[in-house]
Amino acid sequence: MMKTNEIRKAYLDFFQEHGHIVIPSASLIPENDPTTLFTGSGMQPMVPYLLGEAHPEGTRIVDSQKCFRSGDIEEVGDNRHTTFFEMLGNWSLGDYFKKEQITWMFEFLIKKLGLDPHRLYITAFAGNKMIKIPKDEETQQLWMEAFASVGMNTKDRITFYDEQKNWWSRFGTSEQMPVGEPGGPDSEMFWDFGAHRMFHEHSMFASQPCHVNCDCGRFLEIGNNVFMQYRKTDHGFELLPKKNVDFGGGLERFAAAVNDEPDIFRLDLFDNARLAIESITGKKYGADEKETYAFRVILDHLRAATFLICDGILPSNKDQGYFVRRLIRRAIRFAHKLGVRNAFCGSIVSAYIETYQEAYPDLVVHREMIMAEIGKEETKFKTSLEKGLREFEKIFTSNRFVSGSDAFNLYQTYGFPWELTEELVREKGERVDRQVFEDEFKKHQDLSRAGSEQKFTGGLADHSKETTRLHTATHLLNQALRIVLGDHVYQRGSNITAERLRFDFSHGEKMTQEQLQKVEIWVNDVIAKNLPIHYEMMTFEEAKSVGAIGVFEDKYASLGNKVKVYFVGDEACEYLSQEVCGGPHADHTGELGFFKILKEEAVSAGVRRIKATITEREK
Ligand code: ALA
Repeated sequence: MMKTNEIRKAYLDFFQEHGHIVIPSASLIPENDPTTLFTGSGMQPMVPYLLGEAHPEGTRIVDSQKCFRSGDIEEVGDNRHTTFFEMLGNWSLGDYFKKEQITWMFEFLIKKLGLDPHRLYITAFAGNKMIKIPKDEETQQLWMEAFASVGMNTKDRITFYDEQKNWWSRFGTSEQMPVGEPGGPDSEMFWDFGAHRMFHEHSMFASQPCHVNCDCGRFLEIGNNVFMQYRKTDHGFELLPKKNVDFGGGLERFAAAVNDEPDIFRLDLFDNARLAIESITGKKYGADEKETYAFRVILDHLRAATFLICDGILPSNKDQGYFVRRLIRRAIRFAHKLGVRNAFCGSIVSAYIETYQEAYPDLVVHREMIMAEIGKEETKFKTSLEKGLREFEKIFTSNRFVSGSDAFNLYQTYGFPWELTEELVREKGERVDRQVFEDEFKKHQDLSRAGSEQKFTGGLADHSKETTRLHTATHLLNQALRIVLGDHVYQRGSNITAERLRFDFSHGEKMTQEQLQKVEIWVNDVIAKNLPIHYEMMTFEEAKSVGAIGVFEDKYASLGNKVKVYFVGDEACEYLSQEVCGGPHADHTGELGFFKILKEEAVSAGVRRIKATITEREK
């Protein structure tokens, strides 16, 4: 039986033999694409080329693309849904079209993967008069020829569907597509697991006979050939400059067909991780329906988190990071249901790195970082989870109800994401008011944003040239004070106007004239050297390890967010100052002019204040 890693290789090899260039998977974070948070399909990084731009590797491309679909988080639990998956993709960028695609695909499935053609079913586009796109009879004809080549009659094997099913674009049906988006009719391929695998009476189509798009478990879509030939306009569709093919096939779905195994989570890519969960919990995958659901959530979520963190998305409270946090916390909660009380994420992540290391060597490179980030998130959430669950039960037992503000308190105090509370309440057959939760959330966010803006910009409200220069002068002053007075000096406050800087710092006594002079001389020296200033984005740990000083706001930093670290100087002659800060700063120290201390005074016990300014160069 073919292993999943072998299927990936066989696919890439096959299309390479047909003149395709193999490209590596793009990151899960889309580049230059503000329309979406994650790479959710193989074609996403290819959009500019499908629209007509020349691809540097030519007109025939093949890859296995990492994908993440955040919208599927709560779909996970059945035998086929995952949030992370690999999409095998081959593209013709104005090169071959339907004939080659269908002939090659059939050959690959039958000859290379060894699938039984009697268990393959096909769909094609039925056409739509409103958008003036005809029924795709050419595709039907080509599949008939392909099946005929192995002596098969295709009656009832090819079905036509409308644009709800057999039209592909990133935005679903043609109605929702934004102007300019490429799309086209498609032809999907289904594997038949057999009538003995169907649970038709539970399906949403129970009143009709089973069909390929039924959800009873008998059929599984394994791939989609998109004939991407159109672009949306404001009044309908126009032809793209060239006809393209966009094929996408789920690697695991191919493997499911090859192994005739409808449960994706039993495939070999999950073996290491599944066994690890079995040995931690002492439970057997598949023995109990509820437990199997929990296994699947853990298997899916920690794999997705592993790949997302590897691509640089750290758990946080916003944007992509929020999803990583949610995945990890959800996995921990489901492990809790299986009786897990100790840290366990690390062993699952390790298992995945072992499984995927050959295809994705980056996982090995970033191994320490991935383990550390997941470990941190796990530690943070675990104790909160137990306390929070107790609190939740208390609220629910006494009120038979959980309000939107209760949900917000669970979030505030125990780090329960909204979805977690909502899910817990749903499990009890009740609902929570999302609006109240969101109102509370927003109120809190506005407050803390106002707070953190002040902290990060040091009161730097405007970005005029004067304030920017004084801001840089403040960094230099901070550093000079540490050199002259010692390492006990750190920032206690800062305020900048266009005329002067004001800097509060920890120090016990009044500064002497000599010390003040030394500080001025050091700062003016650095200015005279006209050193470059630049910043780098770093994690809290990285910033600390390069010795950066500055106001680390613990909560912000410990969420795994990256911080800006400003460096004064160049690598060759060592950095003279490195400080965590939101910026902005001057580009070179020479822009500052002449630094002059106006006043040194006490603020409170142990805190001194300096007011200083910069003037045009004296001397
Ligand atoms: N882009 C097509 C899909 O994602 C192949 O289904």
